[in-house]
Amino acid sequence: MNENESIVSLLQEVQAKNGYIPKDEIYRIAAEKGVSPAKVTGVATFYSQFRLSKPGKNLILLCKGTACHVNSADGIAAALKEELGIGGGETSADGLFTLEFVACLGCCSLSPVMMINGVAYGSLTPEKAKRIVREIRDSNDGKGA
Ligand code: FES
Repeated sequence: MNENESIVSLLQEVQAKNGYIPKDEIYRIAAEKGVSPAKVTGVATFYSQFRLSKPGKNLILLCKGTACHVNSADGIAAALKEELGIGGGETSADGLFTLEFVACLGCCSLSPVMMINGVAYGSLTPEKAKRIVREIRDSNDGKGA
């Protein structure tokens, strides 16, 4: 295993445990491997699998695969941006939602589709998407806990 591979493997362990890579873990890995924190950060940012900030309580995966794209996934992204104030890879200020753009979710016949906490919501319209996230926000009582 070369140096980068072993850093990747340590980062994977950290992410599996925390759901993201906290800054102090970057420093710990750097010390353990005898490299600079910038080197570890560089490896972590190179791979899209790693998340460097704490994810929101609810993870929204919005499909941008071909079928969903053709059926206006961009309109859904715009609706989510309007409702939650976040774009791809961002977390809402209240910590309740993280939005990720993904390729095919495997249910193209329902396009456009988003998945929230493992549940697929299909045949979306901008209004429907907003209503779904509002309901989740209400059920979280706006407390983020
Ligand atoms: S392209 Fe979106 S579910 Fe397949």
